[in-house]
Amino acid sequence: MEIITAKTAGFCFGVQKAVDLVYELVDKAGSEGSGVIGPIYTYGPIIHNETVVEDLERKGVKVINTPEEIDRIKSGTIVIRSHGVSKELAERAASCGAVCQDATCPFVQRIHRIVEEESDGGAQIIIIGNAGHPEVVGIMGWSSTPAVVIENEEEAESYSGDPEKPVCIVSQTTFNVIKFNELVAILKSRLYNVNVVNTICNATRERQEEARSIASDADVMIVIGGKTSSNSAKLYEICGKECANTFFIQTVDDLHLNLSGKEKVIGITAGASTPKNIIEEVQNYVRTGREF
Ligand code: F3S
Repeated sequence: MEIITAKTAGFCFGVQKAVDLVYELVDKAGSEGSGVIGPIYTYGPIIHNETVVEDLERKGVKVINTPEEIDRIKSGTIVIRSHGVSKELAERAASCGAVCQDATCPFVQRIHRIVEEESDGGAQIIIIGNAGHPEVVGIMGWSSTPAVVIENEEEAESYSGDPEKPVCIVSQTTFNVIKFNELVAILKSRLYNVNVVNTICNATRERQEEARSIASDADVMIVIGGKTSSNSAKLYEICGKECANTFFIQTVDDLHLNLSGKEKVIGITAGASTPKNIIEEVQNYVRTGREF
């Protein structure tokens, strides 16, 4: 039996940077003269991974979730995570009592800039993504006019904006590339003046392509990711189309493989917020049938 683990599995560049920053701040906040003021806050969990978030909580990192909580902070350091936040929230964090450290991924910052410029120039912003996802909520908050979020074909087909108005379409960085193209095609067939900026990030594109390719050869495919991680859910969707035996797990504890012994290839991939050690535990379990 062959076990193929995706090379692109696990932390992407943006998540790694944000997580490293928080650990660095935690370390420095404890030492005199470092210039880092504790306590350390993150706006929302730094990544969609309970193990990492719990570890940081044990080290004193507090997760805050509302703008009102930002306003109540009198001192310390607040970290904006890689998903980014709305313009209003970024300004609020910058002017609260804490020092603001912005770990918004540069690929997400690029979307913020496009959305701000295009909406200021009079374009209607359409975001292809999951409504309610923090990254999408943040992107919406950079449009100077109300942005529209489209997630599926029905929503694309029922889009009722003025067909003559210039439209700028961007994407959530972790959206499914094929689905994005399908939704853009529907919108383009109904609108006249469309500027499409495919803002799906390369890390996502490569991860999805590799997952698809491994799943198409695999007898069993395992996707590791947090319950609330939308990029992991998309990997599961992609792999499920290629391999009927696809499992979505958070950690090795969720994995209950009943192998028949006839399986030739077992594939493993993981979302952008899955730490390396969790991937290794799953690999070891699949290889030996034992947890480590
Ligand atoms: Fe950035 Fe792409 Fe990761 S946008 S946070 S590198 S998935």
